[in-house]
Order: sequence, then C-alpha cells, then structure tokens
Amino acid sequence: MSAQEPIEFDPGVVGDLDDASVRGDSSSLRESTTSITSSIYEYRTIHGRSYQSSKTTEYWAPTDNRHLEGNDVAHQYTLMLMNNNLFAAPLKDPKKILDVGTGTGIWAIDIADQFPDAEVIGTDISAVQPSWVPSNCAFQIDDAQLDWTFKKDHFDFIHIRNLFGGIDDWPKLYKQAFAHLKPGGWIESMEIDIQTRSENPRVQNDPNHVFHKWCQLFWAAGEKTGRSFKIARDGQMQKYISEAGFVDVHHQWWKVPIGGWAQNPLLKQVGQYNGLYIDLSLDGFAVFPVGQILGWTLEEVQELVNSMRKEFADPKSLPYYNLHLVYARKPESA
Ligand SMILES: C[S@@+](CC[C@H](N)C(=O)[O-])C[C@H]1O[C@@H](n2cnc3c(N)ncnc32)[C@H](O)[C@@H]1O
Repeated sequence: MSAQEPIEFDPGVVGDLDDASVRGDSSSLRESTTSITSSIYEYRTIHGRSYQSSKTTEYWAPTDNRHLEGNDVAHQYTLMLMNNNLFAAPLKDPKKILDVGTGTGIWAIDIADQFPDAEVIGTDISAVQPSWVPSNCAFQIDDAQLDWTFKKDHFDFIHIRNLFGGIDDWPKLYKQAFAHLKPGGWIESMEIDIQTRSENPRVQNDPNHVFHKWCQLFWAAGEKTGRSFKIARDGQMQKYISEAGFVDVHHQWWKVPIGGWAQNPLLKQVGQYNGLYIDLSLDGFAVFPVGQILGWTLEEVQELVNSMRKEFADPKSLPYYNLHLVYARKPESA
C-alpha cells in the first residue's frame, strides 16, 4: 500500500498550527483512574508495577489493571478502524480459532460471541483473563515461543495481535501458526509501529524531539533483549508470513492519531480512545525497557515519560503512529 494522506487536523482542537499564541484544547490525552489488581497469582513487582512471572519469556509490559485497561481501550479503537470487524481475513464459518498472546482475552471473547459454534482458545504467559467467558471460549497459560502442543492442521483461524517486543523469533512463530492451521485456514497478525510521528513538520523534522528519542530507546531495548519492537516496520510481517509458506498475503495499515485532534469524525474518536490507551500505558511502557533493560534510574524514566506526556498534551503536536495488519492463507495443498 502506498503512503497514506496526511491526517487533517481540527482547528477547534489544535488552534493555529503556526501561531503558538493561539492555544488549542489540551484535554484530549486525559487522565484516568487507576484500579487495584486483586490477582491471586504471584507477580514480580518493579517500581510498584506488576509483571508476569513466566520462566520462559520475560515480557516487558506490566500486567496490572491500569495497563490491562489500556489494552482493552486499544481493542476498541481497533474495532472502530476496522468498521466494527474483529478481523479482515475472509473467514467462512470458522470452527477452531486460536488467539495467541490473548492478554485480557477481549478479542477471544468477542469472537466467541460472534461464532457461537466455534471453539475459541486464547493463550498467554500471564493469567489475566476473566473467568466469566462464553462457554465456547477457553484460556490456557502457554508460551507461544515454545513448541506448540496443539494438533497440527487443526485451526481455521489464528489471530496474533500486539506482541511487539515480546517475541525472539517471529519467523518461528508464524511457522508454528502455519503448521497448526488447517489447509485453507487463515492467519491474521496486527502490530503497532511504535514510532510516534507527527503531522506537524516542526515536530516531525526535529531530530531531538522526545517522540524520536522514545522509539529509539525501545528499539535499543529490543536489540538488547533480542525481542524486537520493530516487527511492524520494513515489511517484516509480510516477509516472514510469506516465508512461512502462506499465500494470498494482504497488508493493510492505518495512521492512528493520538488524541482527538483529527478533523475526520471517525479518526477523532479513534484518536480520543488512542489518547486514553496511551495515557493509561505510557508509564508502564517505559519502566521495564528503559529502566530495567537500558538501566535508567526511576527519576530519569519519569522525566522521559513526563516530557512525552507534555508533548501529547500540546494540541499542536499532531501525533500518530502506524498500525499494520497482515492476513494470509495456508494453501489447500500444504
Ligand atoms: C499488549 S498485550 C496484547 C493482548 C491481546 N493480544 C490484545 O491485542 O488485546 C500482549 C500480551 O502478550 C502476552 N505475551 C507476551 N509474550 C508471550 C508469549 N511468548 N507467549 C504468550 N503470550 C505472550 C503478554 O503476556 C500480554 O498479555
């Protein structure tokens, strides 16, 4: 797909882009309340944030309620972008569905409701899924990086979303999905390119802007752990999915505004939800990759997060990131 059009901004929110004295409305990235986790499971705690204690994969993002709430908000904006669809692949009456790295299980629960005759399994290294779920939906604690114990040629649809920074070997993950899909089954993989971009040239072209610094740090952390934050860049998803043997490889991508600054009503709403997602997630994003992996002090991490928040709150920042989706089919003959 070729480069998309710039996102037009709403002057009522942004003010005059070239005149700093004309202020816009900085409330689009708003505060929200934190709730307290009451998990019965044992978690590591780093600077007051909870993390899963998987022995096989050390995942970088917290598992506390604030962070999980952010993930559920991200699910909602994704639905909006996709015209309320949970997937883009041309599924026909799927009977076995797998959601890899299901998180709160929100996608798995929704798809189980949509296909009541299907059996839906959501896997994760972290036991943060609810227990009240549709009867055709089940969750399993499973590390997707290990060899899968599911039957081969079993699933009609495998869904993978937002595992950036969590996987050592994406080609292996896609190959395992290939092996466990039925011939003719579909894979769908959606990942965020974490680079915060801006429709304001003053921000986008400033090499020292914190938006640029932020993603460089995450990329460096990913290089250090061997679990890349760059999976949605440079066509890697399409490449690895094709190399795994899939055919009919489709790629779609969206510019996703952060905050309610877009003129287009759908993008404005998406941006408001995304602003809330970022607001709920920003501190949690930084603590482990920047603090633990790159060795910054808590104060330095907080300073970094504060400067990101300050820029997000500036209506003239016009921030967005790119979101990529790839779906593809396992050939009938495989
Ligand atoms: C950002 S959340 C996304 C959750 C869900 N896919 C969604 O889009 O709402 C990433 C999830 O992947 C899980 N995860 C990370 N590494 C994993 C692995 N190796 N195997 C299984 N789950 C993993 C994390 O525990 C976390 O719940």
